Amino acid sequence: MRIISTPGEMSRLARAIRREGSGRHSLVPTMGALHEGHVSLVRAARDGSTIVTVSIFVNPTQFGPNEDLARYPRTFEADCAALQGLGVDYVFAPAAPDMYPDGFRTSVHVDGLRDRLEGQVRPGHFDGVATVVLKLFAIAQPDAAFFGRKDAQQLRIIRQMTSDLDLGIEIVGCPIVREPDGLAGSSRNAYLSPDERRAATVLSRALRAAADAIGRGIRASAEIVAAADAVIKAEPMARPDYVELVDADTFDRVGSIERTALLLLAVRIGSTRLIDNAVINVRDGEVNVER
Ligand code: PAJ
Repeated sequence: MRIISTPGEMSRLARAIRREGSGRHSLVPTMGALHEGHVSLVRAARDGSTIVTVSIFVNPTQFGPNEDLARYPRTFEADCAALQGLGVDYVFAPAAPDMYPDGFRTSVHVDGLRDRLEGQVRPGHFDGVATVVLKLFAIAQPDAAFFGRKDAQQLRIIRQMTSDLDLGIEIVGCPIVREPDGLAGSSRNAYLSPDERRAATVLSRALRAAADAIGRGIRASAEIVAAADAVIKAEPMARPDYVELVDADTFDRVGSIERTALLLLAVRIGSTRLIDNAVINVRDGEVNVER
């Protein structure tokens, strides 16, 4: 495994991989502090690719002024050891001034999708994400890139950008990896105190309550959202940012379940903000919930 620390070196390498027809090159973009969710993306990439590159870059432009950029967990040595064990070929870990030199002026906006939900609570967040992912794609020139469905709106925005800009990169969405008690893996789980960690199961419990309501035949969004809300309200340490049922394609709010939808939630536990979601599949009139 080789560690590459400059965009110039990574793009030279990427060009050589293409020129030599070395096989399918897959990229897994991350901000490090790797956990089982990231590991699942790397495994999925390894399976079926000749070359796997993992990027580790805590991207400053996707953090708001009052967010956790300074205290975001950084565990580079342990991350590299884990990636080596997973058979990764290259770790691309650039420094921020090399990604955003003085005079940097370009930003990618994926209209509409970037302003709602996560984008409303975190203004500018998705411009930062889309811009850095486009840069990572341009530098590493992968055939495929792997993302988690945990960040459903991010995945949707990256798919849109990739298609709008004819990038010709296959975007692979991978299932949410959870702890045994249901909590979705997140680098931010490291911020939780033991009490907060117990309270944090409220996100997956809320999704389960909504899934149970759907299982009982309820199709009206207001009732499904209310089932999730009630679970969150019962947890004194939790404050919801949003709980919304949206169309899986447009991310517009829906009144009832008629086609594939997403139940998205963002909840603050103390000072830590966590997100989670469930896909509500509708096939031939059958509804099932995927968490
Ligand atoms: P990060 O939060 O490090 O996540 C990297 C990738 O891991 C994302 O695609 C995310 O959806 C996926 N992931 C995180 N937790 C997961 C879980 N529990 N199950 C499955 N996949 C999970 O997302 C980012 O970084 C950044 O925004 C990035 C795309 C790297 C751009 O800076």
